[in-house]
Amino acid sequence: MALIDKIKAQAKANVKHIVLPEGEEVRNIQAALSIVESGIARLTLLGDKEKAAQVAGNLDISGLDYINPAASDKAAGYAEQLYEIRKAKGMTPEKAAELVADPMYYGIMMVKTGDADGLVSGAIHSTGDMLRPALQIIKAKPGMRTVSSCFLMELQDKSFGQDGVMIFSDCAVIPNPTAEELANIALGAADSARALAAMEPKVAMLSFSTKGSAKHDNVTKVQEATKLAHEMAPDLLLDGELQLDAALVESVGQLKSPGSPVAGKANVLVFPDLQAGNIGYKLVQRLAHAEAYGPVLQGIAKPCNDLSRGCSWEDIVATVAITAVQAQ
Ligand code: ACO
Repeated sequence: MALIDKIKAQAKANVKHIVLPEGEEVRNIQAALSIVESGIARLTLLGDKEKAAQVAGNLDISGLDYINPAASDKAAGYAEQLYEIRKAKGMTPEKAAELVADPMYYGIMMVKTGDADGLVSGAIHSTGDMLRPALQIIKAKPGMRTVSSCFLMELQDKSFGQDGVMIFSDCAVIPNPTAEELANIALGAADSARALAAMEPKVAMLSFSTKGSAKHDNVTKVQEATKLAHEMAPDLLLDGELQLDAALVESVGQLKSPGSPVAGKANVLVFPDLQAGNIGYKLVQRLAHAEAYGPVLQGIAKPCNDLSRGCSWEDIVATVAITAVQAQ
């Protein structure tokens, strides 16, 4: 069974409540109709249902649940809580009331307060406009300092990762992580491997150097991150710094990092920065025709996930399924 079908089946087995703030947008509406029909999640769409019906054309949205934040009786309570959460950062009661009328903030407050289990947005919002309120309000989960992201990669060549499934991280959030942030990314990616792909993570901390073969500040950062990650999670199978071939190819791994529990068999790749991570997943997606699901936020207290503005309605269905599984 394809990875995404396994995730959808897992989502159906323990149904979670997901909010779609972009409820007046046609791909969200198409996705919502499919999700409700297949039972992947319980959904609330945000926006004006009459406007959504016009956008939907001949699609029948009568069975979809809508809340219009601008007319919601929960808005005042959410505004009060938003003000409390952000007052030390200059939030005023007036500003909080204005913000919760915006579906993105209303949706984030639904998740924050437990009125929804997770959120999916970004078909019309930029990554930054979706991530910023999530980071400011929902924040990192206890024990984690850093929210980051991963892509679930499903390769055609099943000899890599676990039956062709790998986790690539961070490909979307932290442009230039410190060693401590990189260690947090590694731990977040390991959690994602367990939660979303039922894999025992084998984490490679990638660099252009293997075990001191090159000397540079960028290599030192990966070495420090590896040491920190070992201290934070002593039982995690993690090794670094490793070049990509040492991480993936058994013969190279044995030569360059003999005795490593990860080299040559990594299923989680941690890139040293966002340029490498973002370019890396797109290379594999385009040149090796891999399926790439994400970015999936990890290390966040409650699941919120971003969409690409070029997404299809099927991409939204997949992201809702992933978010629902993260919420379980
Ligand atoms: N983890 C936890 N908290 C964070 C993180 C993080 N990674 N980043 C920011 N925060 C918190 C800050 O501490 C701050 O909290 P506070 O207001 O309570 O003090 C709040 O979030 C806002 O932080 P800023 O630094 O003001 O946020 P910034 O404007 O830098 O935005 C963002 C953060 C949006 C994640 C930024 O780093 C960014 O734009 N990243 C790149 C996103 C991107 O363009 N990705 C590539 C495209 S996606 C793709 O191709 C698939």
